Amino acid sequence: MLVILKRDDQEISRQAAQLIASAVRKNPALTLGLATGGTMIGVYRHLVALHKQGSLDFSRVVTFNLDEYLGLPAEHPRSFHHFMQENLFAHVNVDPRNIHIPDGTIRGNYDQYCASYEEAIRKAGGIDVQLLGIGRNGHIGFNEPTSSIGSRTRLKVLSQETLDDNSKFFAPGEESPEESPRCAITMGIGTILETRKILLLATGAGKSAAVANSIEGPVTSAVSASALQLHPDVTFIIDDAAASQLTQRDYYLRVLEMTALLTPDRLS
Ligand code: GLP
Repeated sequence: MLVILKRDDQEISRQAAQLIASAVRKNPALTLGLATGGTMIGVYRHLVALHKQGSLDFSRVVTFNLDEYLGLPAEHPRSFHHFMQENLFAHVNVDPRNIHIPDGTIRGNYDQYCASYEEAIRKAGGIDVQLLGIGRNGHIGFNEPTSSIGSRTRLKVLSQETLDDNSKFFAPGEESPEESPRCAITMGIGTILETRKILLLATGAGKSAAVANSIEGPVTSAVSASALQLHPDVTFIIDDAAASQLTQRDYYLRVLEMTALLTPDRLS
């Protein structure tokens, strides 16, 4: 795993956007796995800016989002569909037919729907670059602690920690309690592990335990992101606060120096 240490959110966003932009320039028909959450907002802002400058074309890019809340229609202001429109899709030339986000409004045969999402990923040739955030409890997508490392796209019950973290987005009075989602449709850890390249972004001290457990802890379903240790091409892009519980920081800095010298493509 490559650990890129950055000062702050700004630098992280710029670095991640740069890596995505070069991947799209190398392969204009790239299949891109996308994530939501506050950490992604800066990345999407940079990608939009590159597009507006005329240096990034999304016309052939295919996208698959990790997850969506169960029960929220696309137009709901807290849905991940809405997040993606607001922060990226409405501002770039991605073909709407190439956008895939799990449907939060499905009812009944969840297994069949989730299998069709997996099938769509397969038909697209698999995901080339997957963007990930991380939850305070180490979740990726909505793969909550104890998710199977082999899990596929499925219905997932959200943990109390995630419900608490997300309650800030569902302010009292704005939505009725029954509208606050308790479940989600999420790509599985097995699905994520099949993507070709992974970029995981984390900022802030609140993520430092999850980051340290994922990079330096044992591979365990108790910390979903620790499963990324099994993947051959993962880059963590984290700020000083999120890196604060890592014990091998100096080593990661030396690796970064050598990477810049020997395989600079991994950084730009
Ligand atoms: C949600 C998403 C995750 C994301 C996480 C972190 O739980 N399902 O994919 O990583 O939020 O969000 P934030 O970046 O706001 O901390």
